[in-house]
Amino acid sequence: MAVKVSPSVLTADFLELDGELKKLEAAGTDMIHLDVMDGIFVPNISFGVPLIRSIKKHTNLPLDVHLMIDRPHRYLRDFAAVADYLGFHYEAGSDVAETLKEIRALGCKPCLTIKPCTAPEEIFPFLPLCDMVLVMSVEPGFGGQKFMPSALEKLSALRAECARRGLAVELEVDGGINGETAPLAVQAGATVLVAGSYVFSDQMEERVRFLKSLS
Ligand code: DX5
Ligand code: ZN
Repeated sequence: MAVKVSPSVLTADFLELDGELKKLEAAGTDMIHLDVMDGIFVPNISFGVPLIRSIKKHTNLPLDVHLMIDRPHRYLRDFAAVADYLGFHYEAGSDVAETLKEIRALGCKPCLTIKPCTAPEEIFPFLPLCDMVLVMSVEPGFGGQKFMPSALEKLSALRAECARRGLAVELEVDGGINGETAPLAVQAGATVLVAGSYVFSDQMEERVRFLKSLS
């Protein structure tokens, strides 16, 4: 099955997004990844609901919202109104099971995300509540960082556990994905590739097509 591609607009010129979204659609992008940072859970501030609402008006692609915010349960209703996949961090201080259930009740696909310091086994109990799990392959907060190979073992462990329990959970990987690391991540079990700096380049279309060709 072809891999899904979820380009992160973090490094894009936000005033040029309409044209970029059209190019991404033409290249076969499956969804758009939106990195929400609050300056507390991560040492960076990005954007929130108003920008995502504008993006939603300019594309029919599903929106894959990655909340890097402290105690995300406080803002679920706001983000659920604009998201398709709604993801939050296991480490962010909200009750994990309750938050996953609430995201589903609000009509979004729940995604549980782990930082590089978290072992995949810690989230095994929550897998039946997830439509997607996001494995961070960099420390969350910034685009353009180097891929951490430790993410590969985590993807494999999660893939094996989902297979063992017969769970159809998408496995997403985020951070440092490029022409060299993407095939490794897919081989380890990733089914959704987030890519920021690799895709937002003058070779956007070729690179999306390359990522999509992996299986
Ligand atoms: C980092 C974000 C990523 C980031 C990826 O905290 O979650 O989505 O934009 O950027 P690249 O692909 O450049 O590592
Ligand atoms: Zn992200």
